[in-house]
Amino acid sequence: RTFRIAAIPADGVGEEVVAAGRAVLDALAEGSGGAFGFAWEEFPWGARHYAETGRMMDEDGLERLRPFDAIYFGAVGWPTVPDHVSLWGLRLAICQGFDQWANIRPVHFLPGVRSPLRSADDHELDWVVVRENSEGEYAGLGGRNLAARGPGGEVAVQSSLFTEVGCERIIRFAFELARTRSRRKLSSVTKSNAQQYGMVLWDEVFRRVAAEYPDVETESVLVDAMSAKFVLRPEDLSVVVASNLHADILSDLGSALAGSLGLAASANLNPERRFPSMFEPVHGSAPDIAGLGRANPIGAVGSAALMLDHLGLPAEAARLHRAIAATTAAGVLTRDVGGTAGTEEVTDALIGALGTY
Ligand code: NAI
Ligand code: MG
Repeated sequence: RTFRIAAIPADGVGEEVVAAGRAVLDALAEGSGGAFGFAWEEFPWGARHYAETGRMMDEDGLERLRPFDAIYFGAVGWPTVPDHVSLWGLRLAICQGFDQWANIRPVHFLPGVRSPLRSADDHELDWVVVRENSEGEYAGLGGRNLAARGPGGEVAVQSSLFTEVGCERIIRFAFELARTRSRRKLSSVTKSNAQQYGMVLWDEVFRRVAAEYPDVETESVLVDAMSAKFVLRPEDLSVVVASNLHADILSDLGSALAGSLGLAASANLNPERRFPSMFEPVHGSAPDIAGLGRANPIGAVGSAALMLDHLGLPAEAARLHRAIAATTAAGVLTRDVGGTAGTEEVTDALIGALGTY
């Protein structure tokens, strides 16, 4: 079967890593002897499109994306556009428009990649961070100048939205995921001692849903304590579920602990499959290295593996994961993980490693 994939490289290294991911996926399809293939359509949205049209994506963008089996995304953001404009105009517009309420971000050690965790050899790190992706702190509620108190006295309000339905669906999703893993443990993260409404609701829903999953070990941890635990006791975690903001921060920390932001993959899922889901590396457009051919493509290629899982090709996803591990184990590494290889060299190594299985 041929899967229709919308590619949105967007800005900066997004273009480089999406090209790498497409090359790897096409090689995989070629090796399948026609069992499956990808029909790509590329959408040139992003900061350049904004400069030309005043919009990050076309007005009918969501309508045009809707028929695709999945969206393969790079990264948004460029110094010519305010970051909140680019993020809301493209990435968040898609996540929210397609109700991609579950964002999953796996983090694990890779062979041959040094971790900043001190005695990394003594630690295990194999987690999935599950991020609530539709509400919470990124609900977009609030405003500026609500009660301006003269020059220099502007007031801004940024509210969080927590609904019982929203909390319950992401917590349930995380429990189901925890059940599929060898370590059946789910850690819930909030800051309910300081934020007494939404986060207390989250904690209550977590306790209620937990009663239905007696086979899953649980804990509730405050976000500040969890950030310490990430560093000090990584082996004690398996699945971590948190709000939009907390999981955003924790997953960057997690990927840095695993070796680099450039390694981290993510999936923005609409679990009901009413709309296409979107697969993207965790990192941003990295303007500091954009265009130099140095971007680590592994986060984007790992995201392609998550896409294969979602498309019902778990054996192919596993093949991609093995190719990633074989490539890092062989020392073909970009600069962010201590190597000297460029994006293309790593991509070629990944494609080469596909054939060895
Ligand atoms: P960033 O993730 O783009 O970069 C942070 C650091 O990680 C930089 O030193 C960069 O060189 C490095 N890095 C990132 N990806 C890498 C890769 N594949 N290989 C090697 N090194 C890599 O975050 P930053 O600098 O805070 O944001 C830059 C722009 O990206 C901003 O406009 C921001 O809004 C946007 N952004 C977009 C995201 C998205 O589209 N999902 C997520 C995060 C940021
Ligand atoms: Mg982030």
